[in-house]
Amino acid sequence: MGATIIDGKKSAERVRAQVAGHVERLKSVHGITPGLAVVLVGEDPASQVYVRSKGKMTVEVGMKSIEHRLEASTGETDLLALISRLNADPEIHGILVQLPLPDHLDEDLVINAIDPVKDVDGFHILNVGLLGTGQKSMVPCTPLGCLMMLREHHGELSGLNAVVIGRSNIVGKPMAQLLLGDSCTVTIAHSRTRDLPDVVRRADIVVAAVGRPQMVPGDWIKPGATVIDVGINRIDAPEKGDGRTRLVGDVDFASAAAVAGAITPVPGGVGPMTIACLLANTVIACCRANGLAEPEGLTA
Ligand code: GUN
Repeated sequence: MGATIIDGKKSAERVRAQVAGHVERLKSVHGITPGLAVVLVGEDPASQVYVRSKGKMTVEVGMKSIEHRLEASTGETDLLALISRLNADPEIHGILVQLPLPDHLDEDLVINAIDPVKDVDGFHILNVGLLGTGQKSMVPCTPLGCLMMLREHHGELSGLNAVVIGRSNIVGKPMAQLLLGDSCTVTIAHSRTRDLPDVVRRADIVVAAVGRPQMVPGDWIKPGATVIDVGINRIDAPEKGDGRTRLVGDVDFASAAAVAGAITPVPGGVGPMTIACLLANTVIACCRANGLAEPEGLTA
């Protein structure tokens, strides 16, 4: 195995330590405690795990964490009323509505009801437009975490060929915008892309965000490329015993690590950075709301 393993846990610890320092300063100098509200509708088990983890980390960096858990049958009017209250609450600086929402709720409508300044996910249409035009915005957490790791491990990204596999609004599209912002030559590949292996083989940077376990094998990877694996897929692991499972990424780690220059593991790669960036976005939102200088190095 030749690749450097990019330690997302360590990078996330560094980001969280920086965030904690800014939170401490906001409290002691300005008397402000940044607050993050997370809204979970329904009982999706994976979402419950994420929300619990977000709440715990929020408290650990000294911020206020508010959780609203609503029944799966919650109507749009009630959810919009809650968002409206959170928008108006001066103690709440960041609002995150966990996705996916139950089918009867219109995700676009709900997300666009969040005050764009409190939209720590960066999913509001205004933030999407600001990012797309290179203006100051809230940057979606997962792609922001990927960009931070790429800058840290690859250094200057300008002029490199980057291939993003996946075209979701949450990861693929904003990731492509961020890489373009760092002057990469960007290709967005997806399920209809022709000759995907050859497209990926041209990439100095590969970001895999498709949600298909181990779909990118090592022989698609250009020797020395940096590989960022966004996938978190649970698969059966009979080798661990009956009924046991394990997490794998969208990249076949063993074969890719043999040729890549650097690669993120799953778990322990992108996942921890996503939450760290959510906390960073909350501090930034708090500073913006209060007309204070924004911390350096915590956003794109
Ligand atoms: N579901 C999966 N990823 C995310 C995310 O980054 N933000 C929200 N709100 N929901 C998600």
